[in-house]
Amino acid sequence: MVNYKDLGLVNSRELFKKAINGGYAIPAFNFNNMEQIQAIIQACFEAKSPVILQVSSGARKYANQTLLRYMAQGAVEYAKELGYAIPIVLHLDHGDTFELCKSCIEYGFSSVMIDGSAHPYDENVELTRKVVEYAHKYDVTVEGELGVLAGIEDDVVAASHVYTRPEDVEDFVSKTGVDSLAISIGTSHGANKFKPEQCTRNADGILVPPPLRFDILKEIEKRIPGFPIVLHGSSSVPQDLVKSINEHGGALKDAIGIPEEQLREASKSAVCKINIDSDGRLAMTAAVREVLQEKPAEFDPRKYLGPARERLKQLYIHKCIDVLGSANQA
Ligand code: G3H
Ligand code: 13P
Ligand code: ZN
Repeated sequence: MVNYKDLGLVNSRELFKKAINGGYAIPAFNFNNMEQIQAIIQACFEAKSPVILQVSSGARKYANQTLLRYMAQGAVEYAKELGYAIPIVLHLDHGDTFELCKSCIEYGFSSVMIDGSAHPYDENVELTRKVVEYAHKYDVTVEGELGVLAGIEDDVVAASHVYTRPEDVEDFVSKTGVDSLAISIGTSHGANKFKPEQCTRNADGILVPPPLRFDILKEIEKRIPGFPIVLHGSSSVPQDLVKSINEHGGALKDAIGIPEEQLREASKSAVCKINIDSDGRLAMTAAVREVLQEKPAEFDPRKYLGPARERLKQLYIHKCIDVLGSANQA
């Protein structure tokens, strides 16, 4: 058993309280390799932003849980070496069983998500309550989820959103004791969040997706005032990155994300954690494709992973400053 506090990590409780009061959201960036974690720490150090490092089940399988935990521990030391300790949370993203959450807690995670949203309501409550009971013994914070995001979530493919029902949130929060709640208001995972036919075109011919359901968010806030809300699937799918990928041999079709202005708006509410993974994947892929196409004789991975890391860092700095508003809050 390793306690996260001994690793210099923090749980999310205080960060969320400050974020709600301050009208900003904490970035939750997924990582599964060294360049990503370097970019996250460098960016959040420069932007002076607290950060949530997220590990998905897929990341655990890809990179090994032990290695990832040591990387997070290394990230704490790395930030100190850069100049000072920014608050760093190590969070399990989309945990789907009690055993997985327990294992992460024993490994030094400071926060876990138990995603029971694919189960019937009562089973979701029961599973989430069980995780909370265990996690709180170690002062680990827990994120639950109500509602289902369209797209792929937990290996379950949902054709359309099941928006969170505001009438459920009070009951769910009080019965489970969760510390934060992920909701479904129109975001979804991946780089293809909307079909072009769902969008309208603005004066410049750019596709504009349907807006997030801020009405549902407001209703939820009314029922659980001041309670920390989480948005998954919040990549914006920057079109310059999509264009560059496609101009350098890629084949991304109909890649559309959540407009940044809407995330900026959401960050001012009780939304205090915003999950971003796909945008980072796009940034890395764009940079790698550019280098490999422009310098076909290059074969040192540092020559393409280095620029990919730099592109990621710039993306994360932009998210902290211009989208989530978390800059200067560390
Ligand atoms: O919510 C999903 C995250 O983007 C993680 O994706 O399961 O492919 O690592 P992954
Ligand atoms: P994106 O696919 O929009 O980056 O969402 C990531 C996410 O929600 C991780 O849990
Ligand atoms: Zn997610």
